[in-house]
Amino acid sequence: MKFATKKITLKDGRTCCLSPNNSEYAQDMIDYLKKTSAETPFLLRNPDEVKYTLEDEKAILDRLYNDDHSVMMIATVDGRVAGNGSINGMGDKRKISHRCSLAIALYEEFWGLGIGPAMMDYLIFLATTIGYKQVELEVVGGNERAHALYKKCGFTEYGRRPNALLFDDGTYHDEILMYKELGKEL
Ligand SMILES: CC(C)(COP(=O)(O)OP(=O)(O)OC[C@H]1O[C@@H](n2cnc3c(N)ncnc32)[C@H](O)[C@@H]1OP(=O)(O)O)[C@@H](O)C(=O)NCCC(=O)NCCS
Repeated sequence: MKFATKKITLKDGRTCCLSPNNSEYAQDMIDYLKKTSAETPFLLRNPDEVKYTLEDEKAILDRLYNDDHSVMMIATVDGRVAGNGSINGMGDKRKISHRCSLAIALYEEFWGLGIGPAMMDYLIFLATTIGYKQVELEVVGGNERAHALYKKCGFTEYGRRPNALLFDDGTYHDEILMYKELGKEL
């Protein structure tokens, strides 16, 4: 969906813009998916599983930009992509239309600067204004930074999916299930 760009000042004094992602960033997003999935084991994809063509990615970003129930938020610092965050509905069935999921990932060089908390706040605000009543996410056990961020943003743990992920090194990892009710902070 379209939304206003928000500017924030980072811990190092630089300015970060949180803007609607769109098809102009298609190649940047392919590069981002490959690099971020190599920088951390805590994302779902392995780097070799990023197989989108430029045309695929443009079509996805165009569709999400024009979908009033989805948010694709790109964070840029000095014109460079720092990360992306998203809100997506759980499906078009009425019984689950109040629920959405949230995802966020930054390039490692932009961790710890305040972008994650600012993106979370803005994503939660936008999810609320769309009309969602509940936002849900999964975090891999051991991803302490993300887990701390979600708790700080008011997410509550409601369970664990055992052995949800099998890494290439043969180790299994649980997913922690978290949710937050919306509409109470506006
Ligand atoms: C997770 C992520 C979005 C967080 O964004 P960020 O801007 O780096 O967030 P911050 O550094 O402000 O960290 C959030 C909080 O966690 C705390 N934190 C950082 N490292 C921590 C650690 N190892 N253990 C516990 N808490 C930690 C920070 O102190 C901060 O809390 P504070 O503001 O009270 O100090 C970002 O690091 C990232 O993209 N990571 C890789 C991808 C990923 O894991 N995505 C989430 C998938 S579920």
